Amino acid sequence: AEPFFLDCDTGIDDCLAIAYLIGRGVNLVGVGTVSGNTSAAEAAENTARFLGALGRTDIPIAVGAHNPLDGVFAGTVAFVHGENGIGDVDLPAVDATRVDTSAAQLLVDLARQNPGTLKVLAIGPLTNLAIAFALEPRLPELIGELTIMGGAALAPGNATAAAEANIYKDPVAAHTVLTSGFNTILVPLDVTMEHTVGAAEQERLSASTQPGLRAIGAMLDTYLDFYIGVYGERRASLHDALAAAIATGDVSLSLAPEASVVVETGRGPARGQTVVDLRGRYRNYALSVSAGALSRVVLEVPADAADTIMTVV
Ligand code: BDR
Ligand code: CA
Repeated sequence: AEPFFLDCDTGIDDCLAIAYLIGRGVNLVGVGTVSGNTSAAEAAENTARFLGALGRTDIPIAVGAHNPLDGVFAGTVAFVHGENGIGDVDLPAVDATRVDTSAAQLLVDLARQNPGTLKVLAIGPLTNLAIAFALEPRLPELIGELTIMGGAALAPGNATAAAEANIYKDPVAAHTVLTSGFNTILVPLDVTMEHTVGAAEQERLSASTQPGLRAIGAMLDTYLDFYIGVYGERRASLHDALAAAIATGDVSLSLAPEASVVVETGRGPARGQTVVDLRGRYRNYALSVSAGALSRVVLEVPADAADTIMTVV
């Protein structure tokens, strides 16, 4: 099976993505962590423990960048993901496979070992990806496909009016990655906000005899509470899990124009905004004017995407 590398900031929906990848039998050859929902170090611990709860202590985990490229880590988002990033659920410590190299170096090593075939799923800020590209300029060719959960094309942001959280937390890294010629699928809020998990799924997971899945049930308390303020009811976006199901090819792309994506890196109100050039790529326009590095920007997937995901998780 094709090798996968996951870069994450675990994270409640990151756990859903991990559960999806494992449930789906993906050949996960390495995981890197980055500061986002929580610190890179805690994200690694969360990932190790969660993978352990799923019965997998064999997957190499590397701690990645703590700070974004142009600043310092802003701290956890306890109101979304709990103080510890995973809804303050206390998972047992495990004897995980930790590697001493940085997440960026692990990614470079794995890309060199699997030239052209490694699939990368990035569901946190893109700091590690940008550092890996600086370490290995051939990375865009070495990586077969890069799927990123991040950004907002036409939809509003979630971290700010203009910016989605993963991009907002390291806009310089995101700009570098999105303009460097990776074979990229960008999964922005436009599509992730449309596919949700709710109280029924939480109940099912909470009743599971599988400790990892049961833990997600508990984590969802925090996540669903936060999302009441977004949707007006107890349902929450599957962001990272949707990106995972797109990366595996299980969820197809109904509407995903190729467009150039650049990121606002200034410190004004648009910081972290993904400027997606949909001129000529949108609705029934005939002319394409997007130039430079192009990403497939996912604007629509089939309506049953959440079911596809939750039958695996
Ligand atoms: C993204 O930000 C994080 O909070 C989530 O885990 C997801 O990766 C959504 O904007
Ligand atoms: Ca995430």
